[in-house]
Amino acid sequence: MDIFKKHIAESKNYVGGKSAEEVGGGRKMHKMSSNENALGISPKAVAAAKEAAEKLYIYPDGTPKRLTQALAESYDNKIEPSQIIVSDSGSSVIEIITRGLLNEGDEYIVTNPTFQLYKVLGIKAGAKLVDVRLQGDDFQLDVDGILNAITDRTRIIYITNPNNPTGTIFPQDQLDRLFNALPDHLVVVHDEVYEKFVEDPNYSSALKWVLEGKNIIGLNSFSKMYGMAGMRLGYAYTTPKLADYFTKLTKPFSTNRIALEAGIAAVQDKEFLQKSIDHVHRSKKYLYAELDRLGVKYWKTQANFILIKTEKDPSELEQFMVTKGIMVRPVNYFGADGCTRVTFGLDDANEAFIKALEEFHN
Ligand SMILES: Cc1ncc(COP(=O)(O)O)c(C=O)c1O
Repeated sequence: MDIFKKHIAESKNYVGGKSAEEVGGGRKMHKMSSNENALGISPKAVAAAKEAAEKLYIYPDGTPKRLTQALAESYDNKIEPSQIIVSDSGSSVIEIITRGLLNEGDEYIVTNPTFQLYKVLGIKAGAKLVDVRLQGDDFQLDVDGILNAITDRTRIIYITNPNNPTGTIFPQDQLDRLFNALPDHLVVVHDEVYEKFVEDPNYSSALKWVLEGKNIIGLNSFSKMYGMAGMRLGYAYTTPKLADYFTKLTKPFSTNRIALEAGIAAVQDKEFLQKSIDHVHRSKKYLYAELDRLGVKYWKTQANFILIKTEKDPSELEQFMVTKGIMVRPVNYFGADGCTRVTFGLDDANEAFIKALEEFHN
């Protein structure tokens, strides 16, 4: 049909991980494939959601101001609530940024292997993808490669930190070097949805650079640390000027009543958040020791998942794991050929995964 835009008609949609219902067909599965929170959701958020459900017949707040206030407090009020953009997921915030900045023929930089949604949405905008691949076995950023790839048409650079699917981080001094050398006709999206799980002291969230007034957006999600993947809620924080611009692309009343109330409760439940972080750190130690024992290659992680490489094909591993009631994610699609991403589960899931991996190897 002639009315269609060619770059949309010919584009492919993002391929997300499957649900446990789809794969297990009613069987209980250990879902270690989508980086959800193994501990579930804050009981306080559940209580708030239930209460909000009774009032679903009434419109929610027109703007999510009470949520942005709670989020600003979670950054010790170093940013104003008006610097926070809320949408129905981190993915949706990426879509807003793409829509706001990319015209046909513009360029955007990604650093594969990484999260593929940036690529998918940029293509739909008719923009040109420029891939400056990560370097070496430790997946480091090619700062000079990125600087050399910038043209007058570059509008967005996506930095995923901690990175998905590698679980690795880019240290603050490396990013300082990059950000200090950037021209001002582009914006950096610092995707930090796994930020709370980081232990490495060389890490910095986008807050530092936002406060310095750089053109940088810290992208976050309620799906990971807040255990609300099923809710669909995400946000970003940035400079007042950029926030004002992107807020114009949000819709009135678009944060539904349940998401709003549960989101506020989740942000304020620091105890649940800390428990989730502690669990991730404990799981990590356990898996490092077990993977060492089995001689399986893995990368040290700063997120709630770990990247491993097996001798056999990842799709074979994926299928074998399903027979054991476990879901893992092969990540060829993310640009990490031959690798599998495993989300930390509860202790029984982590143990079941190791047992199955041992069988798979023998
Ligand atoms: C790096 C990264 N960014 C953004 C998202 C989007 O999260 P959501 O749309 O669930 O908020 C994900 C989800 O897997 C992710 O891994």
